[in-house]
Amino acid sequence: MIEKLNILREKAQSEINVSNDEQSLLKVKSTYLGKDSEISSIMKQLKDLSIEEKKQVGQLSNEIKNEISNLIKEKLSIIEANSSKKISFDHTMPVSDDTGTLHPITIVAEEVVKILKKMGFIIVTGPEMESDYYNFEGLNIAENHPARDMQDTYWLENGKLLRTHTSPCQVRAMEKYGAPLRIAAPGRCFRNEDLDACHENTFFQLEGMVIDKEVSINNLIYVMKNILKGIYNKDVEVRLRPGFFPFVEPGFELDIKCPICDGKGCPTCKNSGWSELCPCGMVHPKVLEASGIDPKVYSGFAFGIGLTRMAMFKYNIADIRVLNSGNINSLKQIGIE
Ligand code: DAH
Repeated sequence: MIEKLNILREKAQSEINVSNDEQSLLKVKSTYLGKDSEISSIMKQLKDLSIEEKKQVGQLSNEIKNEISNLIKEKLSIIEANSSKKISFDHTMPVSDDTGTLHPITIVAEEVVKILKKMGFIIVTGPEMESDYYNFEGLNIAENHPARDMQDTYWLENGKLLRTHTSPCQVRAMEKYGAPLRIAAPGRCFRNEDLDACHENTFFQLEGMVIDKEVSINNLIYVMKNILKGIYNKDVEVRLRPGFFPFVEPGFELDIKCPICDGKGCPTCKNSGWSELCPCGMVHPKVLEASGIDPKVYSGFAFGIGLTRMAMFKYNIADIRVLNSGNINSLKQIGIE
């Protein structure tokens, strides 16, 4: 028995030596000190031994049990000290480069919002899950109007839809605040698009609307140029082409002189020197009327800035899909880590 105990002592010592985590030490503990361990079965046999043997074996068993228990305790405290060292805060450590950044679209949106706020615009929002009325009807797009074809819509089972543009915010704001009015509504929009480098099913716009007495196209051009100057830090030339949208009359497409090639022609502007940026127009009298504003007293203009497009121009992003991908490496390539 003495010999067996000495063998157990050695085995336990070497197992403790090679155990480097709490779990394996607890296993060693139960193997050598637990109820079903060999040492405890030796202790159970003590009663059958002679007095002399009882004394010797009993003493040695207790000695070994204490020794194993102390070795395990020691090793556990070393492991604990090491692990708390690992999670302790070292304020001399250099800060990682991989801290986050605002998304390019957020940056552009904040810039435009800041400029518009200076011109007295208030910021409003609207739901992404919208009703047919706010997304279409209230904007003079009747149920069977062909203009609905331009906006392939995600219809929901509850009869609502994912808004296809931020223009519903115009209607909501007119209903809520009446005239005069100056609002900007940045937000996310959805269309059932086949994805490619220029098309995404999820994109961002910023809707702007001004309603007052004697508002003219000149005011619209002034506001647009002011926004562009703030974004590109220089005067940007603009031009208006006719464009059709049922909620404005007349309606325009506002083009900017391509900020990438300065009008000389490049792949981004398809060598035309101009880039389409923002549809806009004078608010249709029917739209004013539907929201309770008298078109004989008030007039207004509205515009829908493509924030996604603007971010692509600003950061020279050729593929729209990068923007919603959450791919940090792509963001690094854009240069806004
Ligand atoms: N909501 C239109 C679209 O996404 C864009 C637009 C056109 C907005 C003319 C306007 C506007 O405010 O006046 O296709």
